[in-house]
Amino acid sequence: MKKLTASFLVITTLLSAAASQAQTPAPASFMLCMACHGMDGKGMGAGTPTPMAPALAGSKLAAFGDGEVMASIVFTGIEKQDAKFVGIMAPLGPAMTDAQMAEVLTYVRSSFGNSAPAVTADQIKGWREKYNGKPMQKRADLEARLK
Ligand code: HEC
Repeated sequence: MKKLTASFLVITTLLSAAASQAQTPAPASFMLCMACHGMDGKGMGAGTPTPMAPALAGSKLAAFGDGEVMASIVFTGIEKQDAKFVGIMAPLGPAMTDAQMAEVLTYVRSSFGNSAPAVTADQIKGWREKYNGKPMQKRADLEARLK
């Protein structure tokens, strides 16, 4: 019985430690990003020679402006031009409604130390018309937009 109580204590301590680290709980739509970008937004395999994907924590592309650059990335994906990452940023717009995408963009832009303004479903609706189905963007072109 003593042992049982002790392990309960350990579990509750671990759980509350995990809970206090997370800022806002991740929305279900973030599960789509997590596999590559990691639950903590640091990128799966961060610190290894070839991580799965770059960090969303501190990402200029994610935090820039009103979110149009980030939305365009999720709609078109990024053309794979090198072997820096194991994963590939595929177009994910069709997998989400406007509201879900607004939610996940807002979550990423305000988590992991990021503090960029929220994105609305109305904004996503407009950007979907502009970017969905367009060719994958080149990383250099995206970075040129950060000005
Ligand atoms: C299958 C893996 C995978 C999934 C799933 C994925 N990404 Fe990516 N993502 C990548 C890779 C790889 C890159 C880097 C592409 C490159 O530069 O070649 C990237 C790049 C990005 C970038 C640019 C970051 C930077 O600063 O370089 C953003 C923003 C982004 N992804 C957002 C998302 C969001 C939001 C989701 C979920 C809706 C998502 N990604 C899902 C693999 C993934």
